[in-house]
Amino acid sequence: MIENVVGVFGLPNGVAVNLLLNGVDRLVPMVVEEPSVVAAVSNMSRLTRAAGGLHAECDPSVMIGQVQVSNPAPGAAERLRDAIPMLSTIAVTVHPQLAAFGGGLRGMEVRELLYDEPGEEPEDILVLHFFLDCADAMGANMVNTIAERLMPEVVAITGGRAGLRILSNLADRRLVRAHVTIPFALLDEPTAGPEPEVPGSEVAAGIAAAWRFAWVDPYRAATHNKGVMNGIDAVALATGNDWRAIEAGAHAWAARDGQYRPLSTWKVRDGSLIGRIELPMQVGTVGGPIKVHPTVQQNHALAQISGARDLAMLHAAVGLVQNLGALRALAREGIQQGHMRMHARTIALEAGASGEAIGRVVSGLVARGEFTVQAAREILGR
Ligand code: MEV
Repeated sequence: MIENVVGVFGLPNGVAVNLLLNGVDRLVPMVVEEPSVVAAVSNMSRLTRAAGGLHAECDPSVMIGQVQVSNPAPGAAERLRDAIPMLSTIAVTVHPQLAAFGGGLRGMEVRELLYDEPGEEPEDILVLHFFLDCADAMGANMVNTIAERLMPEVVAITGGRAGLRILSNLADRRLVRAHVTIPFALLDEPTAGPEPEVPGSEVAAGIAAAWRFAWVDPYRAATHNKGVMNGIDAVALATGNDWRAIEAGAHAWAARDGQYRPLSTWKVRDGSLIGRIELPMQVGTVGGPIKVHPTVQQNHALAQISGARDLAMLHAAVGLVQNLGALRALAREGIQQGHMRMHARTIALEAGASGEAIGRVVSGLVARGEFTVQAAREILGR
């Protein structure tokens, strides 16, 4: 798959359970090194399934390709617009088989940009955008091949200097949306001690308040979105998808109004907590490593993924429940207590425990409520 290979690098492949998505039970393969991530998806999926689970929908798999020229001749943008029918005819010849899979060219547009960084020489930039429905592929290779093919014509038409020809990872024509409505009663929580139960209305209010903090503050929004991406990246890895592309698209989308914002929303309405997420999702079920990596194939079979849009919806649903798990913990006890409990095994191993001693150390750390290597060593008698 890559160059200069000296080995393979293992990561845990977990399976999150309990997810009810669009009325169908789903198993979710997740590859991630961080404890609590898979547990949180399973727990929050269990909680939300009592409310009918999550609902999701997805745009067609339309990627954007960019063909850029610098310093175009006068009137170039107009000429390029007039040439769109001719350029479209060329573009469809590059992947003629795509239409049979439900994909194909979905249009073109011309964008006129001005590079105007203060103190630097301004520069006119002209970009031809084309929109390609990549069906069940992520589509990077298909888009890039078309962009390469169009460049000579674009240069000839515009009189500009050839620039880049590459896809855009801000895949904002390929958005996925998921939502969940959780009645307060499902959020009712008993606390660990003798204190009274925390009413679900308070938990919901805490989650909504945590979301408002993220909406107004990019410092919090970054962490909020990191929690969302904990789930999304883990599914992307497990299913052989390019998580860097997904990350790039997600964060560019999060900043679309000029301020970096949370990818999800959490609001209290009419006795329920309502969560929503919307983001670009450039994932595929064909191409890339998908058909050559045996574990990826097993994960696709396990999740019973029917196509790229189905997989995109699974990503969005997992991102939303992952985020719910983090906010619920943060709004109540704080994240660290539960997280460190999950982390106790790693601490036991770090302290030198092996075999049956691992379980003994984990129980000891939980009983003490102290999750340090020093405490683990004491339990081991070292
Ligand atoms: C940790 O991996 C993710 C969190 O920081 C997310 C959040 O703060 O919302 C818990």
